[in-house]
Amino acid sequence: MQFIISRYHPDKDSDPFEQTFEIDDALLSADSMLLDALHLIREQDPSLGFRSSCQEGICGSDGMNINGKNGLSCITSLSSLTQPIRLTPLPGLPIIKDLIIDMTLFYQQYSKVEPFLVTEPFNPNLEHLQSPEDRAKLDGAYECILCGCCSTSCPSFWWNPDQFAGPAALLAAQRFVIDSRDIQQIDRLTSLDSPTQTFRCRHIQNCTDACPKGLTPSRAIQALKSIMVNKLT
Ligand code: FES
Repeated sequence: MQFIISRYHPDKDSDPFEQTFEIDDALLSADSMLLDALHLIREQDPSLGFRSSCQEGICGSDGMNINGKNGLSCITSLSSLTQPIRLTPLPGLPIIKDLIIDMTLFYQQYSKVEPFLVTEPFNPNLEHLQSPEDRAKLDGAYECILCGCCSTSCPSFWWNPDQFAGPAALLAAQRFVIDSRDIQQIDRLTSLDSPTQTFRCRHIQNCTDACPKGLTPSRAIQALKSIMVNKLT
């Protein structure tokens, strides 16, 4: 099995370059994942840089561009990929090393939408209850693992990662705007009502196509815009 992997060490290399690796098929099984292959490649070349942790599609650390599409190596089966398998870092953010990117701007945008519940502090010892119907509205909005696959597939985020919130942050924003327990809905909407932070989304759907958890950030952003129009005008 052949892999073409983007390599780059900013201290040593003037530009990224590609390196080809071969793995004996006998070392892999029918259900091997891309991450299994990356571990084997790192046995050949311990200098290869990539992130991983849970190996279960939960931690979101191993996002990368796989044959032209963002995804998680740990839940991408090798049998689903055409060869040679070409791996590059998630696009649009600075490369730290090889397949490892600097996600500072991504996290800054996430932080700006205040992704936490704000409730009346009348009794902090009580649970903040909501009806099963209101709870069900959060399905599809809370499961994001912050892998960055969606935001780094979005041209609006590539061009303005310091201004445009990006799909992951806007999905989180919508999750708290629609939460029946949150008391900051109008403040949240007002702070998001900007041509750059939210309305730079052009709904080209790359984010939804890239999400390895099957979420639909594009639909969430559309819903967020509709709520803004209804509540702020
Ligand atoms: Fe945690 Fe892939 S290693 S999501």
